[in-house]
Amino acid sequence: MTALRFAPLTLINGLTLKNRVVVPPMASQTADNNGLATEQTLTHYQNLAQSGAGLVMVEYSHVNLAGRSESNQLGAHDDACIAGLSIIASALHHAGATTGLQITHCGGKDSAGISSDVMGPSGITVPAYDRVLPTPRAMTLDDIAQWQQDFVSAAIRADKAGFDLVEIHCAHGYGINQWLSPLTNQRDDQYGGSLENRTRILLEIVRAIKQATPRLAVMTRIPGQDGYPGGLSHTDMGQVAQWLVGAGVEILNVSSGIGGWNRPKDKRGEGFLVDDAAPLKGKTSAAVIGVGGIETVDYIETILATKQVDLVAVGRAILAGPGEFAARVMVTELALS
Ligand SMILES: Cc1cc2nc3c(=O)[nH]c(=O)nc-3n(C[C@H](O)[C@H](O)[C@H](O)COP(=O)(O)O)c2cc1C
Repeated sequence: MTALRFAPLTLINGLTLKNRVVVPPMASQTADNNGLATEQTLTHYQNLAQSGAGLVMVEYSHVNLAGRSESNQLGAHDDACIAGLSIIASALHHAGATTGLQITHCGGKDSAGISSDVMGPSGITVPAYDRVLPTPRAMTLDDIAQWQQDFVSAAIRADKAGFDLVEIHCAHGYGINQWLSPLTNQRDDQYGGSLENRTRILLEIVRAIKQATPRLAVMTRIPGQDGYPGGLSHTDMGQVAQWLVGAGVEILNVSSGIGGWNRPKDKRGEGFLVDDAAPLKGKTSAAVIGVGGIETVDYIETILATKQVDLVAVGRAILAGPGEFAARVMVTELALS
């Protein structure tokens, strides 16, 4: 019998992933000062493609210079970015992978102090366990319209560059996470207050991207929960997931929230965020990705067999050695005999 990790998966929009392993977005900080891809960025992704993963995501790319969270971050904020992005997309296709671009605005999570205009839903400092972030200014309705336009323009650039999908970063405490979370969104207009209002900016972005780039599948990197007292819960995210899929999202890439992507202190072993993804599996027509310290064949096969997730993201274990991962995990028993 074929191992489950090699089973192709066809998304709602008809896009087929050749297997169940995903390289999640991981910032390489190899872009130049203007956010343009460099030779080093290209080599980095050619290297990751050697993992044999069916889907290789390209790292978080800012949609506006004010939305940068670190230096040498890749950009999708200007048409000048398209040429470099298209070379990367085409190299990944050439290597046999499906590929997507993650797009982001840091909002108030300007860890490196480089944003020219730190802004967030309510002017509330993003709480973080490991750092003190700047206090953002509260966004106006014009700012909201600008963000929406920036995300859509970035998706159009991903489309022109030849990516198969675009992923909106809504997790790890970055901009859209700040809109979803009651910790950082305490507005009293139509974009704040109830969960429905806090999700509004994101749903409007998803619908506008679907309309502007119908060829692209849309993925959202969402928190399974905020992982912070008083933040988003599993129940909240179950509801948000329903709305997202209703708006056209094909993949829910489930990670963590305001607390950042790191392993929670009380979690041991492989799959430290799979418990946050599993409640969403089968609840909508979208595919669900689980992540967190995953590295072995046994663990990957187990979470697929027990139907906790549809797709398995392997980050650092692939980053450490894509070729070694391919030889250890992506060979069939048939090839070994
Ligand atoms: C170097 C590095 C950069 C990362 N950059 C991003 C990013 O750009 N976007 C994102 O959503 N997550 C990012 N992450 C989080 C990973 O996608 C992933 O969720 C995390 O590493 C946990 O998976 P792992 O234990 O398999 O590495 C990054 C992680 C690492 C190690």
